Amino acid sequence: MQVEALPSSVRSAVQSHRYGGRRIGLVPTMGALHVGHVSLMDAARRECDFVIVSIFVNPLQFGPNEDFECYPRTLERDLQKCENAGVDLVFTPATSQMYGSGAESIVSLTSLTRKLEGRHRPDHFDGVTTVVAKLFNITVPDKAYFGQKDYQQQLIIRRMVSDLDWGVEIVTCPIVREDDGLAMSSRNRHLSPADRASSQILFRALSLAQNLTQAGSESPDAIADRMQQLMAGVQGVEPDYAVVVDCDTLEPLVEQPERAVALIAARVGKTRLIDNQILRFR
Ligand code: PAF
Repeated sequence: MQVEALPSSVRSAVQSHRYGGRRIGLVPTMGALHVGHVSLMDAARRECDFVIVSIFVNPLQFGPNEDFECYPRTLERDLQKCENAGVDLVFTPATSQMYGSGAESIVSLTSLTRKLEGRHRPDHFDGVTTVVAKLFNITVPDKAYFGQKDYQQQLIIRRMVSDLDWGVEIVTCPIVREDDGLAMSSRNRHLSPADRASSQILFRALSLAQNLTQAGSESPDAIADRMQQLMAGVQGVEPDYAVVVDCDTLEPLVEQPERAVALIAARVGKTRLIDNQILRFR
């Protein structure tokens, strides 16, 4: 497995492997890899001939009071996981290699990035789209793999790819959960045992939404209310939002749709968690 820190070295490696229609797969990550990331690598390994994983804790997507400094960094263990998953190349740039002095350019979407997560984390998605655009330019992948756990993120990246005519196929892989339902996340390791117990409320709220949808009697708004009621008052949990919205636009629903997405964000102790569930009404 090749490990490269320089964008120019990654470009050369990609050029020398892109022959005879060989497909390049990219799995962008911020490291602290867990089983969810491994599922993305496995999908890339199945579908592509040359698999690249990027590991870069991107300062541009963290707000001033967010957890950039204490975001987990576990490079040695991450490299071992990549090796075990059969990854061909790991790209581990330093911040100075990604954002040279005097960098001014930002990739920014006008609307999707301003909703839900964007309201609570202003500028977060501009940081995500900018770094993902750079990673696409450096690696020129045929396919790029993202987790459904970051539902709004994968939607934004699909929009960006379509708007800017990138020839990369975005693959969204299913959420991988712990035994108790908690969605895998690099931030879960910050949860204390008490937080860990409280955090189950997110999956319970989404399961309630799914059950109510299947029962068929409640509107999307009523389901969102029930999720909010369930989460209200749970010790140590401060919900930011619990909504049922259109799968593509994230707008509120006026009519009963065929499909919708329930999205939740909450602070549990000091850790902010997000989760979601696709709902099928008919
Ligand atoms: O989902 C993440 O880990 C990050 O937002 C990403 C896509 C790697 C960009 O830094």
